[in-house]
Amino acid sequence: MEQKKAKLVLEDGTSFDLPIIEGTMGKPAIDISNLSQNGFVTYDPGFMSTASCDSAITYIDGENSTLLYRGYPIEQLAENCDFLDVSYLLLNGELPNQNEKNSYVSEVKKHYLLHDQLNSVFRGFRRDAHPMAVMQAVVASKSAFYFEEMNVYNRNHRKLSANRLIAKVPSIAAWSYLYNLGRPFNYPRSDLGYAANFLNMLFSSPTQPYEINPILVKAFEKILILHADHEQNASTSTVRLVGSSGANPFACVAAGIASLWGPAHGGANEATLKMLQEIKNESRINEYIERAKDKTDSFRLMGFGHRVYRNKDPRAEIMRKTCHEVLSELGLENDSIFKLALKLEKIALEDDYFVEKKLYPNVDFYSGIVMRAMGIPNSMFTAVFALARTAGWIAHWNEMFLGENLKIGRPRQIYQGKRFRNLSQDRNVSKD
Ligand code: CMC
Repeated sequence: MEQKKAKLVLEDGTSFDLPIIEGTMGKPAIDISNLSQNGFVTYDPGFMSTASCDSAITYIDGENSTLLYRGYPIEQLAENCDFLDVSYLLLNGELPNQNEKNSYVSEVKKHYLLHDQLNSVFRGFRRDAHPMAVMQAVVASKSAFYFEEMNVYNRNHRKLSANRLIAKVPSIAAWSYLYNLGRPFNYPRSDLGYAANFLNMLFSSPTQPYEINPILVKAFEKILILHADHEQNASTSTVRLVGSSGANPFACVAAGIASLWGPAHGGANEATLKMLQEIKNESRINEYIERAKDKTDSFRLMGFGHRVYRNKDPRAEIMRKTCHEVLSELGLENDSIFKLALKLEKIALEDDYFVEKKLYPNVDFYSGIVMRAMGIPNSMFTAVFALARTAGWIAHWNEMFLGENLKIGRPRQIYQGKRFRNLSQDRNVSKD
């Protein structure tokens, strides 16, 4: 079949034929990769209309509230799989059969333990350091431990790094928090599932073992699954960009954690809860809604809106349901923050500003409430997001090396600075 083309015609009549690339689903793309050879670059701040790569991992249709991992709807995965099924799927393209699952789980568990010397890395931080700051630095420091097995062009080394990251990030996240509290580090337990192991590390203490509640574990597996990947978001694009230079996977994931921490991205779950705690009372909701609409105020309603979903965020629907299940299991249906959140959601969804701009609650509007009910502190919300997203980051990083078009990421710019200046002339002028 003949390839479709777009024609770019300049005012002076010069024209360029640009190939159109079609994916298996989604919007077609105009391939402008050769445009710079003709003396032009394109301009697209925030990559609003730019596809940066080919990918077969995750598909989002923001208009129709669709999110697929390797073709499977997120709703089906959240209901029927655990997080390690999903991380295997993201990495390998297929869900594991029982034998594959058994060997993947035992491979991940083999790498659960952190090197004992990492204790000193943790102890170098101030006690009150934010867990994300600690987590980012500790993940980056792992590259100092595995330098002999970090050839990014070696498939086996990449697989080993992926397993190591997925295995060790839960301990790194939990220890970042335990250090904060001044509590002893809990070691991972191979007899527990992935989510249960993390919760146990976070909550058990030498004097009081953590009681594992299957409903909370299931809810936490869902949180991890829903956050595992989201195509070319800011942190995943960061991981790809850093990785495009051949940087090691631990450095790439540490960069992803840095990007995720921002309140416009993964930091939104923590920011949402802070906002709800600040609003405190239903009578103040309108004041905050008005602030969110005021262009002279930088305040935004946290947990609302999304770059890609211009309709409901399918993850938010699942999280809302999970929120009800967890609160009912814990007897917290009358929790004041939850009630406040439901009221705020209702008011915002009926407000013209939010309706016209298609601003719906996103996944982070509810995930913070669920985590808080489970006893997870605000400061750990984004760390949990990072723990889940490690699976997506490493899957994208790996995919980058499988493709044919691996190029170092190097955007262009529109220079708006000074033209040529003469230093000696300027110095003379200023002396006068
Ligand atoms: N509250 C008030 N107004 C908003 C909000 C909000 N939460 N989100 C967007 N708008 C307005 C925005 O001011 C703009 O108005 P106008 O067209 O008049 O200038 C319009 O809606 C479009 O917004 P935008 O900033 O151009 O959209 P974006 O795609 O650049 O931003 C966003 C997306 C998620 C950064 C933004 O919606 C936001 O800041 N939301 C709050 C933070 C948040 O909840 N982030 C979590 C995202 S989900 C987790 C993840 O996947 O990372």
